[in-house]
Amino acid sequence: MSQFPKGFLWGGATAANQLEGAYNEDGKGLSVQDIMPKGVMGKVSDGPVEENLKLKGIDFYHRYEEDIKLFAEMGFKVYRMSIAWTRIFPTGEETEPNEAGLAFYDKVFDTCKKYGIMPLVTLSHYEPPLNLSEKYGAWLDRRMIDFFAKYAEVVMNRYKNKVTHWITFNEINVTVFSPLLGGGILTPKEELTMSQKYQAAHHQLVASGLVTKLARKINPAFKIGCMVASQPRYAMTCNPDDILYAMEQQQETTFFVHVHATGKYPYYTKRLFNEENIEIEITQEDREHLSHTVDYITFSYYNSRTMAKDPSPYQTAAGNIYRGLKNPYVQYSDWNYPIDPQGLRYMLNFYYERYQLPLFVAENGMGSYDTPIKNEDGSLTINDDYRIDFFNDHILQIEKAIEDGVDVFGYTAWGCIDLVSAASAQIDKRYGMIYVDRQPDGSGTLKRTRKKSFFWYKELIESNGASLKR
Ligand code: BG6
Repeated sequence: MSQFPKGFLWGGATAANQLEGAYNEDGKGLSVQDIMPKGVMGKVSDGPVEENLKLKGIDFYHRYEEDIKLFAEMGFKVYRMSIAWTRIFPTGEETEPNEAGLAFYDKVFDTCKKYGIMPLVTLSHYEPPLNLSEKYGAWLDRRMIDFFAKYAEVVMNRYKNKVTHWITFNEINVTVFSPLLGGGILTPKEELTMSQKYQAAHHQLVASGLVTKLARKINPAFKIGCMVASQPRYAMTCNPDDILYAMEQQQETTFFVHVHATGKYPYYTKRLFNEENIEIEITQEDREHLSHTVDYITFSYYNSRTMAKDPSPYQTAAGNIYRGLKNPYVQYSDWNYPIDPQGLRYMLNFYYERYQLPLFVAENGMGSYDTPIKNEDGSLTINDDYRIDFFNDHILQIEKAIEDGVDVFGYTAWGCIDLVSAASAQIDKRYGMIYVDRQPDGSGTLKRTRKKSFFWYKELIESNGASLKR
């Protein structure tokens, strides 16, 4: 019998820069993503270049109606999406927003409403205006806080009757690890000091608090969440050195949840900063902004990471952005990422035990190659049983966490429709339940096809989890 509560929010998640395309239409300015043709796996380009698949994405900008209709057919209760900052403020510095950009999201939200889907909106998902990156070094600079707050205030006012649930920053902890992806910082990561990376992350945390405060003024009914890329850190052995090392590594992520949930830096900040020689500027005003805490915690979960104080005897495993050691007890994906469903139950318990705030799994999925079979009538069939197994096993662990007593109120499968990947900007690293005919060389009709997982997820939602293979 299903343990999912009535009203559990089932759905899917995407990000504007990975699916919208139309990178220069209707007044949109360039974002940092428009010059990242290889994601974080290659160099930035001088300007937008054709090989950058994100420029066209899957053309959601012109096909949102068809796509949201397909989400509705699967029974989505929620659609996690993001707003492209550069559609609203093309350079980030204008005083007046771009009306065409605002009008686009009005149409998207109205379409969601038509199908009874609640939008959950991320304000910043890896795409600050390129102008701010070039001119100010993006989040390295304190002035970003006000640029971001201005943008957030405009969109929260505009959509105050259409959107209730917001997320300030996607995977806010990524800024320290990948300053380009997380913080829009063009200076190569090797040239940045730890202090600079944490200063940039601090600016985002302050901006997140400030925006939370503004949100409550705009509409007291708003619910604001944070979002943190989360992987349980497992110790490779029971050697206390490994256990403590894994604990410290875990704290580097929990740090970001802690600030959002309690309004303060955690007790281990001093040690962490001392060890890494980190010195950052924190003003009284910053502390006030930080004190505006979130209503719920969201996180992405793709895999666990295994750690050892001395990693030299072990093999390493791959990972989206983060890597760990090869764990002999879990399976591996096409990209050699660990597949560890139980890690999700662990993570849910981990956060709930500490913060007792409602939790929402904002991203979870597996990038895989799909092999469409061409039918006689030209249509395609995609038998993606591997994806079904992945989702089934992970959702089962959410159910177990609910049985553990954790308050989880929703789940959005990452890339419910195929889109361009973030880390490597590939299209054939497919996450979706809807296949999009776009190929690595950029060709393709962009036609949408329901995969086998589409029907599986539809049944799962219809039965509120009862159809899971247990
Ligand atoms: C998360 C990001 O890190 O992982 C998404 O929030 C991203 O934007 C997802 O797409 C999967 O990673 P990738 O690199 O395979 O697309």
